Amino acid sequence: MPRPAAPLVRSKPALLGGKPLVTPAMRVTWPPRGEPERKAILEVLDSGQWWRGGTRQQMAQSVTGRFERAFAKWQGAKHALCVSNGTAALELALKAGGVEAGDEVIVPALSFVATATAVPLIGARAVFADADPETYQTDPASVEAAITPRTKAIVVVHYGGYCADMDRFTKLAKKHKLLLIEDCAHAQGSQWRGRGAGSWGDAGCFSFQQSKALTAGEGGAVISNSDVLAEKLYSYHHLGRLEDQGFYDFHRVAWNLRLTEWQGAILNEQLKRVKKLTLIKQRNGAWLSKRLEQLGGLLPLKRDPRITRRGYYFYLMRYDARAFGGLTKARFFQALQAEGLPVSQAYGRAIQRNPVFAQMKDERGRLIYARTSTPNADRICAETQLTLGHTALLSRPLLEAFVASVERIRAHASEIRDQGKDAARAAG
Ligand SMILES: Cc1ncc(COP(=O)(O)O)c(C=O)c1O
Repeated sequence: MPRPAAPLVRSKPALLGGKPLVTPAMRVTWPPRGEPERKAILEVLDSGQWWRGGTRQQMAQSVTGRFERAFAKWQGAKHALCVSNGTAALELALKAGGVEAGDEVIVPALSFVATATAVPLIGARAVFADADPETYQTDPASVEAAITPRTKAIVVVHYGGYCADMDRFTKLAKKHKLLLIEDCAHAQGSQWRGRGAGSWGDAGCFSFQQSKALTAGEGGAVISNSDVLAEKLYSYHHLGRLEDQGFYDFHRVAWNLRLTEWQGAILNEQLKRVKKLTLIKQRNGAWLSKRLEQLGGLLPLKRDPRITRRGYYFYLMRYDARAFGGLTKARFFQALQAEGLPVSQAYGRAIQRNPVFAQMKDERGRLIYARTSTPNADRICAETQLTLGHTALLSRPLLEAFVASVERIRAHASEIRDQGKDAARAAG
C-alpha cells in the first residue's frame, strides 16, 4: 500500500502550526475557459441575435437550440429545453407535469434547498423523505412511506452526482401513478445503467450555475422523453405560447424562463469540455476511493455498479469519529481546511431545518414540519458528511495532499481534539 513518507505523517498538521500541505499550484481554477468561449461570445455579439427568438423554429435554429440537441443526446433523452436556472427548471417540470396547489410532492431532506422550495413556489406542499446513510441518496422506502392520497409527484436528487436508485424509483412512481422528477443539478454526465441521469423519470432538471460541472454562470435545462410534456414545458417557459399558434396568442398563465444566446454560446463550448473532464474526474475519483478504503475511517460512498458513469458535483465521504480518536467532524473539518483543502460539509442541515420550512405554517397556523423526522439525514449532516468539491478531482497532486492530510491529522488526532477543548474552555 503506497504511504506518504513517514516524516510527512509525523509533521505537524497546519491546525497545530505546521505548513499547509496544499500549495496554490495544486488548485484548479473554475470554470475552465479560453479562446473557444471568447470566440463563441463574439459571434453572438456580432450576430445581433442576443435572445433566442420567438417561434419554435427560431428557437431550434438558435445557438441555444444547438446546445439543447447536443445536451439531450449526451444525457440520453429525446428533448432538452434550456431555462434561466435550476430552480426554475424544477418549478417548470412540476407545473408542466400537472402539480397543482394543494398537492403533495415528496422531496429529499438531504439536498440543496431549491429541490424543496420549488414545491411551495407553485403552491403545493413539500413532504420530506429521509436519506440512505451509505449512499446519501433519497431513500425509496422513506419515500414510499410518505405517499398519501394527496401525493402527486416525487422529486429525487442525484446527490453529489451519485445516482439515486432509479430502478426502485421508476417502479415506485409507476405503481402509485406519480410524476417522477429527477433533480440533476449535481449530475451532469452521470449515468445509471448506461443511460443519463434525468432520462429515467418524467423529467430531469439541471442547473448550469457557476459552481456546476457544466456552467454558463447561470442557467438550467429540463430534459424529457415525452412529446406531450415537452410541449407543455415549452409553453410554460415561454409565457403560455403554443408551438403552432401565433406569437401573440397566449394560452396559459406562465413564466418567461428563456435562456439567452450568450449562455447558449458558452454552454456549447463547455459541453465539449465537460465530456472530457467527467472522465478525468471519474478516474481520479476511483483512485481516491481506493486510497480512502485502504486508510479507513473516512470512507467514500458505497459502490454501486449500476452507476456506469459518475458525474461529480461533490466527492462525498463518510466520516467515522471513532477512527480519529473521537475527534468531532467539525474539528476534523477545521483541520482539513487549515491544510488549504477545498472541503465542505455540504449544506449543513436537512432542508426542513432551515427557517423557511421550520417556521412554515398551515392555514390553521400550525407549524407544518414540527414533527417531520429524518434521522439519517440529520445524522449524516451532523456526524458523517464531508465533501471535496469536484474541481479537486482534476488535480492528482491535490488529491495526494488530501490523503496525506488525512493521515497526518489522524496521527495527531488527540492533540487536535485536546487543543479544541482548551480553546472552548478558554472561550468560556
Ligand atoms: C441539488 C440542487 N437543485 C437545484 C439547484 C438550483 O439551481 P440554480 O442555482 O441554478 O437555481 C441547485 C443549485 O445549486 C442544486 O444544488
